[in-house]
Amino acid sequence: EKGGYDHFMMKEIYEQPSVIKDTYRGRLHSNEGLIKMAGIEDNLEKFTNAQRILIIACGTSWHAGLVAEYVFEEFTRIPVEVEYASEFRYRNPIINEKDVVIAISQSGETADTLAAIKLAKEKGAFVFGVCNVVGSSISRESHAGAYTHAGPEIGVASTKAFTTQITVLTMIALRLAQAKGTLSKSDFHRYLSELEAIPEKVEEALKTNEVAKEIASVYKDATNCLYLGRGYNFPVALEGALKLKEISYIHAEGYPAAEMKHGPIALIDEQMPVVVIAPKQGHYDKVVSNVQEIKSRSGKIIAIVTKGDEQVRNLADHVIEIPETSDALSPLLTTIPLQLLSYHIAVMRGCNVDQPRNLAKSVTVE
Ligand code: F6R
Repeated sequence: EKGGYDHFMMKEIYEQPSVIKDTYRGRLHSNEGLIKMAGIEDNLEKFTNAQRILIIACGTSWHAGLVAEYVFEEFTRIPVEVEYASEFRYRNPIINEKDVVIAISQSGETADTLAAIKLAKEKGAFVFGVCNVVGSSISRESHAGAYTHAGPEIGVASTKAFTTQITVLTMIALRLAQAKGTLSKSDFHRYLSELEAIPEKVEEALKTNEVAKEIASVYKDATNCLYLGRGYNFPVALEGALKLKEISYIHAEGYPAAEMKHGPIALIDEQMPVVVIAPKQGHYDKVVSNVQEIKSRSGKIIAIVTKGDEQVRNLADHVIEIPETSDALSPLLTTIPLQLLSYHIAVMRGCNVDQPRNLAKSVTVE
């Protein structure tokens, strides 16, 4: 049942190339320059006329929502807000029929997310669900939706659900950008082919497993860890930290790299591992100076870089190389080594990777 892997989590990490493909199959047609998703086509005007898109989710799905915020705003120029379902529902939110709500949930059963979309519907908003479990409560409660095709996710720590959520949300953003004319034709086509090439590149990113394992053996006894990223990779930093916390019980925090100087830099000393997400595209020079700041305070740097990188390599204690892609799609690749790193650290600490303490796969309590 674990397909030869020791844990479901590892099996699910390794399924990502194929489930990302399953998620865009039949929807992404790069040769014809088309993205076709029934739930979007049937409601295209609602989306293109939206005064705002509100994304509601919890946990890892909320992180996928944050990535989507950057992608939607860049591609479609529609303002996006991302909210924790539990905060949204308890604060008399301002929302009306000109808003489109996208609810993201792997299980489709998260109580807070379900309650939040009921509230949004009462206020007249159009609700679109992005769920993995077919026929789940959130998928039924939404006006329309698009499923991720990740297959059953059994490990409590969400992995393949995250990358397939990003895949669906990116396709939606691209389709809306096409409809609104907010992306040039050439950029639109380039993104379609780049998205199509992602499964192969995820496959390559999975080859970092051995390096991730080596690095894990160095830091398995750490008590704290920082994750830094900018732009599209800031949410990946949050997700990397969440993965480490939930399965290894090491305290970890994700930050936008530029926020370091506003507080967290005080934590840095030779005991502090800092995972820096520094792909070539996207604020690279800025991230390099953040890396220098950590280095000069003797922090231990684990950097996720684009293949062939030299500048960060010269500063970092460890590097993990991933293939090149455009900035907007990079979270699909930068996430992979962070999943592997958490996995190995948790295993080395003797933790129950698939069923971490105090956590449940779907949170049906409020
Ligand atoms: C993290 C994790 C949780 C879930 C969260 C939302 O690895 O599994 O943070 O992401 O409970 O769950 P869904 O997506 O089912 O609504």
